[in-house]
Amino acid sequence: MLRLGIVGCGSIAGYIASLARLNRGVRLTACCDRSEESGRAFARKHKIPTFYGAYEEILNDSSVDALYIATPHHLHYPMLKAAIQAGKPVWCEKPITRTLEEGLEIVKLANDAGIKVGVNYQYRYDAGCYALAMAARSGAMGEILYGRCNVAWKRGPDYFTNSPWHARLEQSGGGTLLTQGSHLLDLLLWACASPPRAATGMITRRKFHEVEVEDLAQGTIALESGAFIQISSAMIAATERPAEIELYGSEATALYGEQLLRPRLRFLGKHVRQARPPGKSPVSLSRSLEGFRAWIVEDRPYLIPARESLAALAAVEAIYQSAREKAQVAVQQLIE
Ligand SMILES: NC(=O)c1ccc[n+]([C@@H]2O[C@H](COP(=O)([O-])OP(=O)(O)OC[C@H]3O[C@@H](n4cnc5c(N)ncnc54)[C@H](O)[C@@H]3O)[C@@H](O)[C@H]2O)c1
Repeated sequence: MLRLGIVGCGSIAGYIASLARLNRGVRLTACCDRSEESGRAFARKHKIPTFYGAYEEILNDSSVDALYIATPHHLHYPMLKAAIQAGKPVWCEKPITRTLEEGLEIVKLANDAGIKVGVNYQYRYDAGCYALAMAARSGAMGEILYGRCNVAWKRGPDYFTNSPWHARLEQSGGGTLLTQGSHLLDLLLWACASPPRAATGMITRRKFHEVEVEDLAQGTIALESGAFIQISSAMIAATERPAEIELYGSEATALYGEQLLRPRLRFLGKHVRQARPPGKSPVSLSRSLEGFRAWIVEDRPYLIPARESLAALAAVEAIYQSAREKAQVAVQQLIE
């Protein structure tokens, strides 16, 4: 049994709390939010026995084995640091931190302390994405030549009014590329199994002119293998499209389209066996939660330990830098 404490009782935490209550191996023992009113309502709704208004209090609660951190991005770094110091494992929402520098420090602190930190890039647990990544990584598609993903999502003004931190660069660290697109970038980088080396990118605001972050981003990344990957990430589509990935190998092409319970994945050019992700639920968020539980309780590997999440963060940072400098830039290398 994993006794989990939730930090940040906002939008995504609501989904996770509902899914956690369906997992017999997880018990929600406490939650914490700086808003007393909505935090207490969240605790009542999800039948969580203890509410705290201050992070330090949940850190010291011995009925909490591990924390799920779902706060605004700028709080991930100090909260992760404090959790590691307190000896509590963490399942952190993506991105691990706003910047690669902070992320590298967290990975080092967690390694030195022997504390498990996982990052919820749940597309790795999506049945279609997992099968695509395994096919690419196993060599079943031949040499991976290039890939691209399209995240054409829709956010209304309430995205910024309900969570004003989304609009502030200092708090979010970025807009659609970091917050939405990095899910698919993480997936493509994982599938290609080759470090990002150089990037070009452009970002802009096409709809939400009053916010500080981009609502449209496009980037191209060259990998060490020679493959190119491209991302188009937007939150301004008039009609939202499911996330899509195309991955081109020398022997097969993979086409993926997101669907909640039955993701579409097709291979062209060759029959490729579709591997199944760990876990039984059809919902990737639920599988990711179960993956974290099994990692903490049974020491079975989780697909996104903190270090695994850094390549996407490095690539996002390089695209932002390229957009600022209007030039191709090197992606910061992660020392193995
Ligand atoms: N994996 C996914 O699919 C997914 C989807 C949405 C959001 N997210 C991620 O989840 C995180 C939260 O996003 P959200 O959309 O739920 O945001 P949100 O604004 O809805 O919720 C954030 C919550 O944190 C609380 N909070 C703020 N400061 C706090 C503090 N000092 N101590 C405790 N609580 C505090 C807020 O009161 C709020 O309830 C982000 O990292 C975001 O990128 C992930």
